[in-house]
Amino acid sequence: MGSITAEFKNPATTTLLELVKTRRSCYKLKAESPISDEAIESIVQTALLHVPTSFNTQTTRVVLLLKEEHQKLWDITIKIMEGLVADGKVPKEMFENHTKPKLLGFGAGYGTILFFTDFESLAPLKEKFAIYADKFDPFALEANAMAQYLVWTALCSEGFGANLQHYSPLIDEEVQKTWNIPASWKLDAQLVFGTPTGGPGEKTFLPLEDRYKVFGK
Ligand SMILES: Cc1cc2nc3c(=O)[nH]c(=O)nc-3n(C[C@H](O)[C@H](O)[C@H](O)COP(=O)(O)O)c2cc1C
Repeated sequence: MGSITAEFKNPATTTLLELVKTRRSCYKLKAESPISDEAIESIVQTALLHVPTSFNTQTTRVVLLLKEEHQKLWDITIKIMEGLVADGKVPKEMFENHTKPKLLGFGAGYGTILFFTDFESLAPLKEKFAIYADKFDPFALEANAMAQYLVWTALCSEGFGANLQHYSPLIDEEVQKTWNIPASWKLDAQLVFGTPTGGPGEKTFLPLEDRYKVFGK
């Protein structure tokens, strides 16, 4: 089953879906930006304001790190990993040959967006809607992921390459200290971006017929 091609009423829908297809994970980055820092901020702020959250709880928090501040994050991460190597928790060879080059590659980018969730802000709602209490935390993560996805797609639309990383909880304490992050903000993901110096890798797709059903067409 190939994917269906269809005509849309609004040309913006075609554009949107084309952008969805062009967003990829790109790891070859350099520390240049095709757009102004204000344009990057506008993307992030639009995502924060307009991406939905369950019960409009607005639990997503973002810290935008640019240039030297971005570099600092990946220096911190390398230092923490070096500590793990010194403690014998990570094999030195693996760190030198795989982890360190990867982390240096992230540092070579232009910026990193830290996505956090404030789970503590959900306490009153969990009390009010006790029947849903165990759903609110996963809902908050889902909403956070939606914001990550929008920002990732918009950055790619503006000519950036980007990739999504997860170095939590390893880096949580240092991140909190370095940028004075409120204790209730729980780090989820790090979106690294920069001007691409190479294309994304090959991507394969499982057959649609194994993943999709339609009824009543
Ligand atoms: C929820 C989620 C978590 C991911 N975590 C990581 C990660 O920790 N490190 C990484 O390099 N890529 C990560 N990725 C990127 C995926 O590996 C990538 O999106 C997938 O292979 C499809 O490739 P594409 O992004 O080029 O379409 C993550 C993607 C998603 C959606």
